Amino acid sequence: MLKNGLLLGLFALLCTGLVAVVNQLTFAKIKQQEQIELSRVLHQIIPDGIHDNELTEHCITIQNSDFLGTTKPLPAYIATRNGDGVAIAIEAVAPDGYNGNIKVIIGLNKAGEVLGVRTLSHQETPGLGDKIELRKSDWVTKFNGLSVSSEKEKRWHVKKDGGEIDQFTGATITPRAYVKAVKLATLYFNQHKQELLSAPASCEVDDE
Ligand SMILES: Cc1cc2nc3c(=O)[nH]c(=O)nc-3n(C[C@H](O)[C@H](O)[C@H](O)COP(=O)(O)O)c2cc1C
Repeated sequence: MLKNGLLLGLFALLCTGLVAVVNQLTFAKIKQQEQIELSRVLHQIIPDGIHDNELTEHCITIQNSDFLGTTKPLPAYIATRNGDGVAIAIEAVAPDGYNGNIKVIIGLNKAGEVLGVRTLSHQETPGLGDKIELRKSDWVTKFNGLSVSSEKEKRWHVKKDGGEIDQFTGATITPRAYVKAVKLATLYFNQHKQELLSAPASCEVDDE
């Protein structure tokens, strides 16, 4: 009886240990994949020619629910050249997508011009709201070169609301939310440019 109990206990201990090891190995692999994907996106929205640092290594944390769409801290990545900040990739959330949060990342140069925008995650409806993905349409590239000076700037709306950005056929909610999020994050950068571009690397964010 005692022998059987001990054997069972040993077996349970071994299984728990095995699960813990597999968990650790998978976690490390997932983190590595996320870093590779992040680096790929950052290279798309901040041209290699304008900076000489590794973007993923100069991460800062920003928290501002009014402009970034969430109360949670979000990461931003600073591009530097000879140590000077020349551009930023700033994460933001569009909280009013059709199916909830749309997470975006916006590359901006020192002048506040959009260098590129990409969608990091969303749950919009396939075939309706998912044209925010570059693999589905080039819609996100329409932000390239835009800048914003005031929240009321008319062109930063979808065409249906009098702006310059196309909505999608039968699906205006997604692009409307998206345009607003990109506009607010761009404005936030304009208002905090100096402190953001010169901020030392330090990044601790909730990955959720
Ligand atoms: C099942 C279903 C899924 C929808 N998904 C989206 C979506 O992902 N994004 C979106 O903007 N509209 C979506 N819509 C449409 C919206 O309800 C709404 O009608 C539309 O965004 C308004 O755009 P419009 O003014 O161009 O008609 C969906 C509608 C239905 C019935």
